[in-house]
Amino acid sequence: MTAEGPTELKTYLPSAAAMAGAHVQGMAAYDALCAEAEADYAGYWARHARELLTWKTPFTQVLDDSNAPFFKWFADGTLNASVNCLDRNVERGLGDKTAIIFEADGGEVTRTTYSQLLARTCQIANGLRSLGVQKGDRVIIYISMSIDGVAAMQACARIGATHSVVFGGFSAQSLRDRIEDTGAVAVITADHQVRGGKQLPLKSIVDEALAMPGCGSVKNVLVVKRSGADIAMTAGRDQWMADVADRQPTTCEPEWVGAEHPLFLLYTSGSTGKPKGVQHSTGGYLLHAALTTKLTFDLKPDDVFWCTADIGWVTGHTYITYGPLALGGTEIVFEGVPTYPDAGRFWKMIQDHKVSIFYTAPTAIRSLIKAAEANDKVHPKSYDLSSLRILGSVGEPINPAAWEWYHLHVGGGRCPIVDTFWQTETGGHMITPLPGATPLVPGSCTLPFPGIQAAVVDETGKDVPNGQGGILVVKKPWPSMIRTIWGDPERFKKSYYPDDFKGQYYLAGDGAIRDAKTGYFTITGRIDDVLNVSGHRMGTMEIESALVSCTELVAEAAVVGRPDDTTGEAICAFVVLKRPRPTGDEAKAIAKQLRDWVGKEIGPIAKPKDIRFGDNLPKTRSGKIMRRLLRSLAKGEAITQDTSTLENPAILDQLGENL
Ligand code: WT7
Repeated sequence: MTAEGPTELKTYLPSAAAMAGAHVQGMAAYDALCAEAEADYAGYWARHARELLTWKTPFTQVLDDSNAPFFKWFADGTLNASVNCLDRNVERGLGDKTAIIFEADGGEVTRTTYSQLLARTCQIANGLRSLGVQKGDRVIIYISMSIDGVAAMQACARIGATHSVVFGGFSAQSLRDRIEDTGAVAVITADHQVRGGKQLPLKSIVDEALAMPGCGSVKNVLVVKRSGADIAMTAGRDQWMADVADRQPTTCEPEWVGAEHPLFLLYTSGSTGKPKGVQHSTGGYLLHAALTTKLTFDLKPDDVFWCTADIGWVTGHTYITYGPLALGGTEIVFEGVPTYPDAGRFWKMIQDHKVSIFYTAPTAIRSLIKAAEANDKVHPKSYDLSSLRILGSVGEPINPAAWEWYHLHVGGGRCPIVDTFWQTETGGHMITPLPGATPLVPGSCTLPFPGIQAAVVDETGKDVPNGQGGILVVKKPWPSMIRTIWGDPERFKKSYYPDDFKGQYYLAGDGAIRDAKTGYFTITGRIDDVLNVSGHRMGTMEIESALVSCTELVAEAAVVGRPDDTTGEAICAFVVLKRPRPTGDEAKAIAKQLRDWVGKEIGPIAKPKDIRFGDNLPKTRSGKIMRRLLRSLAKGEAITQDTSTLENPAILDQLGENL
């Protein structure tokens, strides 16, 4: 980004085709929605909540801020999320419409209609009830992308159980931590997951987790058959999903819950070592999931929508399990990876299934650019992508070069790209273009979603003028916001409603700058110790604790991020060992050992890319690690900062040497 902000870059106006029939057509329509929210904030959200959701008991209250920042929305209304996503669509005549087109890693395709998905959800829900799972219980879901994965989430919602999906790439230790923190009564998993032609374990990792202390709450483990390979089953605890669900009735009386009932918990990294269990509501969350799917993706009845995220992340929750289904859309659920059997997989699937809306992460785009530039066969031009009408990007800033390539080669120059800024905590899009309205500027997520009061302020909470960078905040509560951190309301308050802003503003944890002329937002990156690696959020402290827990080897560790062309940021660890500083092959061997250790402690996504060994870390005289120096070293930059407070300046030369 340049000092002037992104205005020097090209602006793309929405084409006549993008505007035609769009839910929000032109900036005047966008402005009108913003004005409506401005004039009557509660009325604006209430209107959408009545239009988009089916309530068992209509709400009479909208926003309750009497116990801020523990805001409540639509609190006296009752509803059920699965009824909204499934029954409602069957009832309005969409029973035979395809809800999910599932494509397995190996390419097999299974289609599920709304009636079938409702029936399967009811069977799993009845199965869970037969095991005694009730409203308010927590259920961990540790499964890969599958129809049963989506149905299991919907089934929990149906009986009022709160699901917590754990991404299949997390280790037994991470799974254990989440099981303990949620106090889950059941775990839903599969025997294996299949990714990139490889069969990877799931159930045995659940076994490993449950064997660790702290998992006594789990009474039942339900296992979906994926590989069919032999696995260990613990009598009295483990059962096949087929045995529990397949003979159950295909109808199931829903549990009507209050709008504030926790629909799910999803763990995400913060700036301290322990991941936070972000708690989302039922009514407000589902409203924003549906509303943003409708307006940001302009979803229409004939669209084929494909969000490539995993259901283990919030993107998969909002834009696979809930948003598109709440609107009666048809969506793709993909088990595999973008590079298998080759890097043309995404383009082939768009062609085969006539995908019209495609939503993916910049990191995937960047790696596919590399592959396409090396081999025409996997270049998007070798496929018919004419079905596409809207493209989306999420998870990290998209650099203008990747944006232009995505626009030209994937979108054929005709599809608007919605660069959607949001977070696990926000539940849905916060700052994003609307495809039939917003002029696009590559690298900018443009303007707040109508109703969202995003702003850029200084440390004291004062607005900074456009053109000057600052801290991204949201000035008013919104329906799909995080309700609390599970079991730690104090941490919720401290993390998101800090005293710096008198507890008034939601602190996103990102820096941002608004363009001097257009007011467009560009996200400048996290302002806390959180890294974004391939669109995955990782706390530096979390990785540090994993490293120092290798007590046999590690005396001290500090983790920082450095820019990476493909993954956005890369993890760089500086490690002091309990033995003399290794060099050469020994250093390489220990680095590998430590990477594997972190992989086992957290999961492969947390493995540091660089590991450097030192006799010490750069510290101030009071013993504080000087991370800004480490960040420069990680980048390979010469140190130009003031090092006069450094206790041991010589250490910089040593740590500057690459392995
Ligand atoms: C962090 C949230 C939101 C779903 C996936 C990630 C970064 C997210 C963008 C974007 C620039 C972005 C921010 C944010 N981020 N989207 N369009 N442009 N940065 O959810 O794991 O909760 O991470 O991802 O830093 O705070 P998450």
